[in-house]
Amino acid sequence: MLRAFFVGLSENQTLRNFAERSALGRRVSGRFVAGTEITDAVRAAQNVNRSGMSVTIDNLGENVTNPDEARHSAQLYHQILEAIAANNLNANISLKLTHMGLDVDEKLARELVSALVAKATSMNPPGFVRVDMEGSHYTQRTLDFVHELHGLPGNGNSVGTVIQAYLRRSEKDVEKLLADGIRIRLCKGAYKEPAEIAFAAKSEVDQSYIRLMKTLMKSGIYHGLATHDEHLIQQAEEFATREKLAPETFEFQMLYGIRRDLQQSLVRSGWRVRIYVPFGTEWYPYFMRRLGERPANVLFIARHMLRS
Ligand code: FDA
Repeated sequence: MLRAFFVGLSENQTLRNFAERSALGRRVSGRFVAGTEITDAVRAAQNVNRSGMSVTIDNLGENVTNPDEARHSAQLYHQILEAIAANNLNANISLKLTHMGLDVDEKLARELVSALVAKATSMNPPGFVRVDMEGSHYTQRTLDFVHELHGLPGNGNSVGTVIQAYLRRSEKDVEKLLADGIRIRLCKGAYKEPAEIAFAAKSEVDQSYIRLMKTLMKSGIYHGLATHDEHLIQQAEEFATREKLAPETFEFQMLYGIRRDLQQSLVRSGWRVRIYVPFGTEWYPYFMRRLGERPANVLFIARHMLRS
């Protein structure tokens, strides 16, 4: 209920304009967002790297409405890749196709992302571009695009995507991605989806996650298990131990600012952990989705508002 309410709010343009421009909004969003500039993301990534974890940097933004905005977003990602190389960060990038103009001009979006993947491929050590998964309206197009990009000569190890365990279709999508050797980030899914296409009950989503997780872990391809759910993480640890999978064969992934205690305890146990570090001025939809995931976050905001 609460989650659906906040996902609904995340799509409200009036609230978004107001929140992103207000000083209070920027202050409160700092709970989950590294800052507004590339230098903020670099600083956050350095801190994360120092604590033994790798990073994926996300320039916040989605659903751009014209080609210039899409080009500008892609340009920022080129600068991020350059900053990763210049600062020797243990980091890659995560982007959304609608941020690259998918809704405006699909051909342009393909060109922009292809150029980023080409740049990542040419880096030393080679970089990696993760194409985030958005609402179900975009699932097929995102998967088609990633299959196509991955198939281009030289791109193989530089691009991957995300599978959402709440979608009923995900088992088939995973099969096809694995057949092509594509790296997957497995998450539960953050959007509001109808029951015909998505599991609604937490128990069903968790069961789906565990099924897919085991398939990925046994695949021989390097994947990411994105979750803060201790029960799922424990299942993954037990499965890896039972199947004698080396810690270097997969990684856990978590969001910046969420469950830092758990992030560190996984590192101490010898597992690989990557932190998703978002930055930028367009933080509102991302922030609202995070609020909806945990009621206590709303209390955190309320406390902040009362204090200011
Ligand atoms: P769940 O929501 O059940 O939470 C388990 C526990 O984790 C909670 O009890 C709480 O302790 C903690 N927790 C979870 N969310 C929290 C929050 N916001 N604040 C504080 N504590 C919290 N989704 C998507 O649709 N497309 C994508 O591309 C991605 N990409 C992505 C990358 C990475 C690295 C992560 C970690 C997640 C995503 N997601 C995503 C989001 C994902 O789908 C999901 O919405 C969130 O991870 C929350 O689900 P959990 O698996 O953490 O479990």
